[in-house]
Amino acid sequence: MSNDISPEISIDNLGHEDRHFAPSPEFVAQANATPALFEAAKADRLKFWEDQASQLAWDKKWSQVLDWQLPFAKWFIGGKINAAYNCLDRHVLEGRADRVAYYFEGEPGDTKVYTYGDMLKEVSKAANALTEIGIKSGDRVAIYLPMIPEAAIAMLACARIGAAHSVVFGGFSADSLVARINDAQAKLVITSDGGYRRGAAMALKPAVDEAVKSTPTVENVLVVKRTGQETAFGAKDIWWHEIVDRQSDKHECEFFDSEHPLFILYTSGTTAKPKGILHTTGGYLTQTAFSHKMVFDIKAEKDVYWCTADIGWITGHSYVVYGPMINGTTQVMYEGTPDTPSKARVFQLIEKYKVSILYTAPTLIRTWMKWGVEFPNSCDLTSLRLLGSVGEPINPEAWMWYREVIGGNRCPIVDTWWQTETGAILISPLPGITHTKPGSAMGTLPGIVAKVIDDEEREVGNGGAGYLALTEPWPSMLRGIWGEPERYAETYWSRFAGKYFAGDGAKLDDEGAIWLLGRVDDVMNVSGHRISTTEVESALVSHPAVAEAAVVGAKDEMTGQGIVAFVILRGGIEHHEGEVLNKELRDHVAKEIGPIAKPRQILVVNELPKTRSGKIMRRLLRDVAENRETGDATTLADPNIMKLIREGLNSGKSED
Ligand code: WT7
Repeated sequence: MSNDISPEISIDNLGHEDRHFAPSPEFVAQANATPALFEAAKADRLKFWEDQASQLAWDKKWSQVLDWQLPFAKWFIGGKINAAYNCLDRHVLEGRADRVAYYFEGEPGDTKVYTYGDMLKEVSKAANALTEIGIKSGDRVAIYLPMIPEAAIAMLACARIGAAHSVVFGGFSADSLVARINDAQAKLVITSDGGYRRGAAMALKPAVDEAVKSTPTVENVLVVKRTGQETAFGAKDIWWHEIVDRQSDKHECEFFDSEHPLFILYTSGTTAKPKGILHTTGGYLTQTAFSHKMVFDIKAEKDVYWCTADIGWITGHSYVVYGPMINGTTQVMYEGTPDTPSKARVFQLIEKYKVSILYTAPTLIRTWMKWGVEFPNSCDLTSLRLLGSVGEPINPEAWMWYREVIGGNRCPIVDTWWQTETGAILISPLPGITHTKPGSAMGTLPGIVAKVIDDEEREVGNGGAGYLALTEPWPSMLRGIWGEPERYAETYWSRFAGKYFAGDGAKLDDEGAIWLLGRVDDVMNVSGHRISTTEVESALVSHPAVAEAAVVGAKDEMTGQGIVAFVILRGGIEHHEGEVLNKELRDHVAKEIGPIAKPRQILVVNELPKTRSGKIMRRLLRDVAENRETGDATTLADPNIMKLIREGLNSGKSED
């Protein structure tokens, strides 16, 4: 782990926040969560999780709650369950077939409503189609789709037949897709001709065509027709409507072992290779359903819930598909961007569908702040009763704005901390119980044990800052990194023996509330999405003009962190002030990884600051990128280097 941390933590820990917001008596009176939950979890944690698991429909009950062979956990052992059955069949069997599951709104304004009955039929047809194609339990299916109902349908169809899905965010490039397909050895890719973004039909299929040239395991590509744009069709390709529409809408589902793989989702780590985070079934479903019900205070008969996350991220898995569907929630699903055709789009949809619960990311909240209050103020937002935030620390200013402008000072805010690896929310206020503080995720949910510890693994205590670690296993925890058990143990369980290290810094205030301080490793958080410095560096050096690159995440008002790259050019290559190379390098990174990883800024330097052992001192580069005095540089191999870097930059700064 990098030793660049402590200064940041101590700086951040100077911040002080005294505002408190108690839940209103009306909210308390109707809240799902009660203090009894904490008491039950404290009295007997495993029994508590068993009680939560009992809320699901199991074909066979488990015989053992937990098998914990550190760092490998198994939950609800011997139990048999089907994820899609819990999301769909159960609601239909219990008389909820006519309840709306998704109000889908396409970016161009086309709409479609799916009830739970419709979803069961669509998922059954898709499951039958997957079976016809030859997909079986234990196979992996890559899903590369825009935010359209078929994304949820495809995920649930895979779950229904026991095939693990690996959803790849539609904004990732063909190369990223190749890496993920090959790592998981996916047999099938489900994609679409394209999707609508910023008023235009954006093609997706060409990236798949490019990818499958280098993915020997892929036997077929199933293509949803979304935009109708001109699409090349090859021998492996099958139109979704041609095979799915003619299937029976009945499908008898099989029940799988509680520990049967449900999905793999790739996330950035500190090395160039993304990690295939593996989640299994029983524990994951138990905890996503429980947390969704309590944190969002879901009243499924009347709430309209909208989580704005894309299906390509864990938030889309846990809080657009599995958690909400198990709870029989009515949701809004929106395909496009928040500024199309107007900056009021999200607010118009809240008004149109009478959204009562909104779950979004700080980066969007800050964007709204920048756009101005006229957009939210032009719509009726009084249907809202609860607001959520996720993805990165939310600064108190944005929190207050969210509360006042969007929530009309009426709605509790839940700032939810979790990770792809944790599967579900672990730290969050519980509405109706917690007195919230702007900017704090407050405390662990019932059944979760977290500690803030220092380098020597001592608890820092109230008023202290350190590393966030989880000291007991939890049902929705990752079961490993796909195909890399050692990397799993090394990445998460070796920094502090026997504890899960999340990679985040945290402080405890005087009252013990938890404040997340961001990543302490070389992982950047751009708009709530993790991107590793190494990955971007590898992309940069794969360009013929670049000899060496160092990438840092610098504070960015809008995106949380922005990517700043320091590059050394190869001999003979001149850096043109004309920005040609700059643009070329940024486009190159977008091609290699995806537009989300495009550096905000590329700075050409002659040297990089390194320790004597050759480790790049990113902390010092971050000082430069954030226009600060350079911090302690005594461990530099060449003490003059920072001066040279700054001088060099001042003579030929490149930015856009
Ligand atoms: C990292 C996990 C969890 C879904 C979205 C991101 C940061 C997440 C918060 C929060 C402060 C947060 C952490 C974490 N993070 N939520 N409420 N406050 N930081 O999932 O891509 O797996 O990233 O996001 O740094 O480790 P992810």
